[in-house]
Amino acid sequence: MEKQTITATDNRTGKNVELPLVASSHGAFGIDVRELYKGLDLLSFDPGFMSTASCRSAITYIDGDAGLLWYRGYPIEQLADHSSFLEVSYLLLAGELPNAAHLDRFREIITHHTMVHEGVLKFYQGFRHDAHPMAIMLGVVGALSAFYPDAMDVADPACRMTSAYRLIAKMPTLAAGAYKYLRGEPFIYPDDSLGYIENFLRMMFGLPATPYKINPVMVRAMETIFILHADHEQNASTSTVRLAGSSRVNPFATISAGISSLWGPAHGGANEAVLHMLKQIGDVKNIPQFIARAKDKNDSFRLMGFGHRVYKQYDPRARIIRKSCYDLLDDLDIRGNPLFKTALELERIALEDEYFVNRQLYPNVDFYSGIILKALGIDTSMFTVIFVLARTAGWIAQWMEMMAEPDQRIGRPRQIYVGQTQRDYLPLAER
Ligand code: CMC
Repeated sequence: MEKQTITATDNRTGKNVELPLVASSHGAFGIDVRELYKGLDLLSFDPGFMSTASCRSAITYIDGDAGLLWYRGYPIEQLADHSSFLEVSYLLLAGELPNAAHLDRFREIITHHTMVHEGVLKFYQGFRHDAHPMAIMLGVVGALSAFYPDAMDVADPACRMTSAYRLIAKMPTLAAGAYKYLRGEPFIYPDDSLGYIENFLRMMFGLPATPYKINPVMVRAMETIFILHADHEQNASTSTVRLAGSSRVNPFATISAGISSLWGPAHGGANEAVLHMLKQIGDVKNIPQFIARAKDKNDSFRLMGFGHRVYKQYDPRARIIRKSCYDLLDDLDIRGNPLFKTALELERIALEDEYFVNRQLYPNVDFYSGIILKALGIDTSMFTVIFVLARTAGWIAQWMEMMAEPDQRIGRPRQIYVGQTQRDYLPLAER
């Protein structure tokens, strides 16, 4: 097939360059702009990366206008209905759904890696008693770099895979550890006889003195949250993971960078911010006042859990999780609780309000995940940690994909310099 190109002309000089198109298997093609600088001495400029593809990827596809999300080609709705988080993790890493034997083996490997070195557990004691669990996660995940020297060999695909297993397996242990520290309760070791989610719940809520009873409603709600959050193509934290990892630093340091980016309230921190906002609103009668603030350009207040950079219609994950959320509130018979009443009324008003409708600002996945996690009795400060747990599968799959590229290079964006041009240093006495 003939190479498809577009021509870029610099109207100041009349010079042209032919820019090749980069084919996609579905959705928008890209333009390879590498010749721009060489041929025209121009750089592409796209703050916030609104129109920039940072890589080729075969993992996740989003169509924000159609409200589509696929992992490896499988619609998120089908995975949420039929799959498990571990199966989805396998899919993201391997590219295909596992058969029964592959899934068993994967489960066995992950289970085998759930323990963390005792030295890692000592780190927790060094944090202030009221440390935010995300602050703890940044530290302990990065600290794993000090415990697995073989992980430093990022050029070896086998070492990369071992690191992937370790990260997926140890994340629940580390996250539950942060929860226990927050509550001043003893750390609970993993139980290899349990499933991934059950084990996490037991490590979070279990106590040495009483047997922990697993609640299937909670397991299913958590499984849905994990599946829906497992990957989301090149969002801020995933791009951070790719950029950090592109310097060939070890995967624990790389994922710790992703955790930092996810923590922000515009990203994964939104689920926690939703709850703070609901508490701040306090009562259904105060909603109009907060809606007015969200619309006011002179007020920095935004409705947390609303809007998305890519989805310009209902986020498909939000549609799924909304149903789980409503089912859970009914199951637990807590729709009448003032906090949840405020949430549901806010959702109703915002969905009808012209400001939100015109800007295509729908409730996003974090709006509902925040409500679900609260209904499950989990401390608000743990919400983003739970997002970390789920997104680790996607981050590591994206990192592995990048590291396996034959022409993998360090990520190094350029800039348009707008500072002072050259000037001479003045001695202190002359300034
Ligand atoms: N409340 C009120 N107004 C909003 C909101 C909001 N939540 N989100 C966007 N807008 C307005 C914004 O003021 C702007 O209005 P105008 O065109 O009049 O200037 C317009 O909508 C476009 O907003 P933007 O800031 O240019 O959009 P963006 O793509 O840069 O930001 C976002 C996307 C998700 C950061 C933003 O919608 C937001 O801050 N939402 C609240 C935080 C949140 O829920 N984040 C979770 C995102 S989903 C999961 C994840 O990424 O982890």
